[in-house]
Amino acid sequence: MGFSSFDILMKSVLVMLLIGVVSAQLSPTFYSRACPKLLPTVKSAVQSAISKETRMGASLLRLHFHDCFVNGCDGSILLDDTSSFTGEKRAAPNFRSARGFEVVDNIKSAVEKACPGVVSCADILAITARDSVAILGGPSWNVKLGRRDSRTASQAAANNSIPPPTSSLSQLISSFNAAGLSSKDMVALSGSHTIGQARCTNFRARIYNETNNLDASFATSRRSNCPRATGSGDNNLAPLDIQSPTSFNNDYFKNLINQKGLLHSDQQLFNGGSADSTVRQYSSNPSLFSSDFAAAMIKMGDNKPLTGSSGEIRKNCRRTN
Ligand code: HEM
Ligand SMILES: *[C@@H]1O[C@H](CO)[C@@H](O)[C@H](O)[C@H]1NC(C)=O
Ligand SMILES: *[C@@H]1O[C@H](CO)[C@@H](O)[C@H](O)[C@H]1NC(C)=O
Repeated sequence: MGFSSFDILMKSVLVMLLIGVVSAQLSPTFYSRACPKLLPTVKSAVQSAISKETRMGASLLRLHFHDCFVNGCDGSILLDDTSSFTGEKRAAPNFRSARGFEVVDNIKSAVEKACPGVVSCADILAITARDSVAILGGPSWNVKLGRRDSRTASQAAANNSIPPPTSSLSQLISSFNAAGLSSKDMVALSGSHTIGQARCTNFRARIYNETNNLDASFATSRRSNCPRATGSGDNNLAPLDIQSPTSFNNDYFKNLINQKGLLHSDQQLFNGGSADSTVRQYSSNPSLFSSDFAAAMIKMGDNKPLTGSSGEIRKNCRRTN
């Protein structure tokens, strides 16, 4: 006897189930049964951290970026060094720079109290990034959830996958492409530099050595708190957005048009190249920036998550279980 249509139907159902398991998708409702209080718990902890220090919103947003670009959004940036691996905290882009780890610990403790052993650190970073942007006046979005945490971290991958501020436009585009993001996503996500601070060591070469595409009075004022000599004042801070460093808005793009990008990489987005037109659009259309930013954040959060039975749900974000 050949296959009955019932056989064929059952086989198709099996195949569909298998595909479902293999490509387990993130979903905004992932924890709605297992941890209904998750979102309000995180939001109030982020709110209180930002009330204590406004800059913390920027620092938390950046942690999600630096997590997602290194082997996917898997909480790897949160692991402390161990005897068996060197973690990402002392990698070049993070050392003396990535911050907010104590805040993440506090949020994780609050979440563990509400629903022990259920919510990953990688998801906490994604929710925290969204809440930070919204609290500072930016857009909000439905965060997709269901990521699991890595059991390892890679300093080499952090060194190699997070773009440095010396990057050219084409280097920025290729590093975002490697994380599944388009050049338009790259420009939108760079709008994150509407909040937060950078250290002198990361913009010294721009304010002293660049003659092109740099507003002279802007350079002069930035030099006052960033000495020329390497090694002096390296950690002195300047706002990435000179106009409104604690409000999430589109001023970053207006600054670029005025040749007031702080980092070399920032000004690369408006330097006579392929990104110029997007920068102009975002500078004149804040709601377009908001919606493209939200969409790009969701896309960044989709980068190679661990799902299903891969990885684990860490009890403490700093170490594997
Ligand atoms: C386009 C490539 C990017 C480069 C080259 C870059 C580079 C940097 C650098 C060098 C700093 C200052 C760090 C320091 O001096 O300690 C910084 C800060 C920051 N970056 Fe980026 N970044 C990029 C994209 C992004 C993206 C995609 C996001 C978020 C989605 C982001 C969010 C931030 C935030 C919020 C800060 C301020 C952090 C704070 O004040 O603690 N950056 N970035
Ligand atoms: C990563 O970069 C830091 C700082 O430049 C360096 O000390 C370290 O050796 C690098 N690590 C790896 C594994 O390449
Ligand atoms: C500026 O360029 C000169 C010559 O290339 C170099 O010696 C110097 O270290 C640079 N200064 C900074 C702050 O990058």
